[in-house]
This record gives sequence, C-alpha cells and structure tokens, in this order.
Amino acid sequence: MSVHIQEGSDQRSPEQLVRRITHSVASLKRKKEKGEKIVTLTCYDYSTARILDDAGMDLLLVGDSLAMTVLGHPNTLSVTVDEMLHHVKAVARGAKHAMVVADMPFMSYQADHAEAVKNAGRFIQEGGAQAVKLEGASERVVEVVRHLVEIGIPVVGHLGFTPQSLNTLGGFKVQGKTLEDAKKLIGGALRLQEAGVFALVLEMVPVEVASLITRRLRIPTIGIGAGNVCDGQILVVDDLLGRYSELSPRFVRKYMASSRLIQEAVSAYAQDIKTGDFPNNQQEAFAFPDELLPELAAQFENLLKQYE
Ligand code: KIV
Repeated sequence: MSVHIQEGSDQRSPEQLVRRITHSVASLKRKKEKGEKIVTLTCYDYSTARILDDAGMDLLLVGDSLAMTVLGHPNTLSVTVDEMLHHVKAVARGAKHAMVVADMPFMSYQADHAEAVKNAGRFIQEGGAQAVKLEGASERVVEVVRHLVEIGIPVVGHLGFTPQSLNTLGGFKVQGKTLEDAKKLIGGALRLQEAGVFALVLEMVPVEVASLITRRLRIPTIGIGAGNVCDGQILVVDDLLGRYSELSPRFVRKYMASSRLIQEAVSAYAQDIKTGDFPNNQQEAFAFPDELLPELAAQFENLLKQYE
C-alpha cells in the first residue's frame, strides 16, 4: 500500500521570501510587558526553519543540543564554532520572521575574551543570526556579555542546568533546589540582566525559583523544565516531534511520534519498490517521444554492434 503525500510548492515570490524579521529584542520585551507568552523552539536546518517560522515562532535557537540530536554525540561538549555556523546559516536562510539565536558552543567564549567576541561576531556576520546565547553567570561570562552588548550583539543568558557544565554538575540534574543554590541562581540572573542580556533561559529550575526570577526581572525568561511561570517556553524540536529518544526528560511533551511516522513512510516506500508499484511510470517518470521510438530501437541495435 502506498501513502502518497503531495506537498504544495511554496507560492511566495522572491520578494515575499526576503527576510523580514518581525521578532526582535524590543518585540520580545513588549510581549513580557503585555503578559503575552513567547514561543520558541530549537532549530538546526533550513526546511525545519521554514516550517517553524511559518508556524509563528518568535525565536529559533540554533542550540548546541544539535551535537546530540543531529550529530549523535552523547552531550553538547564536542560541537565546534564551525559546525554550529554551518547550521546557523541554514536556519537563518529559512527563518523569515523569527529571531535567530546562535548558541555559542563550549570553549568558544570561556577561555579568551577576544576569542569570545570574535566568535560571537562570526555568528552574526557570517551566520546571519540576530543574537547569541551564552551559558552561566561567572564573572568571566558576565564580562563577555557586557562587551558583546556594548558592541551591538544582543545576548541571551542561560542559567539553571547548563549542559556545557555537565561534568561539574554531575549529570542532567535540576538546579537551585537548596536555599544556597536558589540564591546563586537569582544572583546570577540579576548580574546577567545588569550586564545587558535581553532574555534568559532557565533550564531545569524549580517552579518557585523560576517564578521569583521571572517576576523580578525586566527581561523575559524562557523556561525549559522550569514550569509555566516563565515569560516564554523553549523545547528541543526533536523532543517535541518525538524523533530523539536517547534522553527523555520529564519536562518534554511529545506532540508527535515522528520516528514511528517516518518508519511507517519508509517501510511503505520499501514495500512499493519491491512490488514494482514505485515509481509509477505514468506519473512519476519521464517518457521518450513515441514517434522517435522506432528510430531509437534501430540506432540502439547499431550502437550495440559497435561494442561487440
Ligand atoms: O542547546 C539547546 O538546545 C539549548 C536549549 C535547551 C535551551 O540550550
């Protein structure tokens, strides 16, 4: 049995496809002020960017989670600036309205201040992103944030479970569960706001702590595993679509079982090839002009003789 799905081709003119970013630092801030939720997802490639952008995402994060979901690494630590750039460029080409944020990978901003600024600049200049995201609120990171903001690069902060500190945190664990840790988180959030981040991701943080931070900050918080109290939400797109099964955090809601749907489609394709049903020569192939067929047959015979 075949399942034929004919998607309509994009009818938009090149002018309509020209990038008009409707979502910006200012529009996200306005959303917080009006109490409107900010809707974001991670994204790693052009065609998904087109779909997510058309679905009205405010922001697309080219997360270093692509190290795991796209590249098959066990964590985010090994992905490089060049690998990230490759994906940032693709997403920036696909996103016509959403703000594109490039995640700065491990060791692209921690070791050397000048290198951090150069790498962030590459994501904007070469990658076409509108902003970058950095993890943590150490003195060093806050300094880098301040410098980037000064030179006109908008920055998103990221606190709570910060995957680039996986080895220090001792695994995928909720952060801010003790008074001491909660205070550190709140302090970090305030320092980052003061340094100029325009939004803050809170990952795997108790709801009450996320709520305190969200109410206290002027900038929007974007939660992932931090409850519905944040100004916006983000999920890893592969988790939402149900096509990455190596990890299954409690905070993920799967809206689709795409691994199963893809398997069903691919099995139907395999079956159709084996039975000769695909391709259909009338609809899915190209014919030689009827009137030239006798001549082709004759010349074919002559041609064969030349090779005998
Ligand atoms: O890399 C990523 O996908 C992220 C999100 C989970 C916030 O940082």
